[in-house]
Amino acid sequence: MAEFTLPKNSKVRKNGKVHKSDGARTVTFKVYRYDPDSGENPRYDRFEVDLDSCGPMVLDALIKMKGEQDSTLTFRRSCREGICGSCSMNIDGSNGLACTTAIEDCDKKEITITPLPHMDVIKDLVPDFTHFYAQYASIQPWLKTETPEPSGKERLQSPEERAKLDGLYECILCACCSTSCPSYWWNSDKFLGPAILLQAYRWLADSRDEHTGERLDELEDPFRLYRCHTIMNCANVCPKGLSPAKAIAETKKMMLERSV
Ligand code: SF4
Ligand code: SF4
Ligand code: FES
Repeated sequence: MAEFTLPKNSKVRKNGKVHKSDGARTVTFKVYRYDPDSGENPRYDRFEVDLDSCGPMVLDALIKMKGEQDSTLTFRRSCREGICGSCSMNIDGSNGLACTTAIEDCDKKEITITPLPHMDVIKDLVPDFTHFYAQYASIQPWLKTETPEPSGKERLQSPEERAKLDGLYECILCACCSTSCPSYWWNSDKFLGPAILLQAYRWLADSRDEHTGERLDELEDPFRLYRCHTIMNCANVCPKGLSPAKAIAETKKMMLERSV
């Protein structure tokens, strides 16, 4: 489990609001609130939610809080089924997707929800992904080729070549892994972090890509790749069951193989 660390601009006040519920089966959500336009420090608000009139997931509870108790509560969500990666946040001390985390699995009377750790916060549970996306763009996440398609219209892969992308293409760029990684917390200006390194390896592993050497050159740097110290938080929190640490290890192996 990731060590819990408050977001960067945190200095939480203790006197947040309490939103009451009359329900018989009630859970309290202690939710991080921050509105930069208010000029006030962040705080925690408490929302009591009746589980008998709420869906089973943490996202259902957030939607209910926003719909019935405080319409200013701000969070991202879209697909509601673990596909878009929008609802990543820190739930009960561990990063995850609100839409695929069951309230009952938290097994607590009070569940704390904060934005992803160590990112700047735009408002409430919405972190600023600008830097993360810039790092993603820096690895040029698209197929790069020099030669024309052999068939004139497509580049075929064998089933074995295609299988090498399993465990990589499923990444939804939710950043749960990167924001669980202590190396990324301390060096996110220079270290690419597990999510982006997994994406970088996705293109290194693609048999159709013809820029492998150039991609490795870009990663050959004491910080961009080598700040990973195999702490494994990334693999422990990934909601899609992926292992960025393994992808990073494979990338380091490719570096070694080309140097001998
Ligand atoms: S294995 Fe590497 S990338 Fe993953 S959490 Fe640890 S240091 Fe970060
Ligand atoms: S590797 Fe997993 S945790 Fe990391 S960004 Fe991709 S889906 Fe999210
Ligand atoms: S809403 Fe899309 S992953 Fe949760």
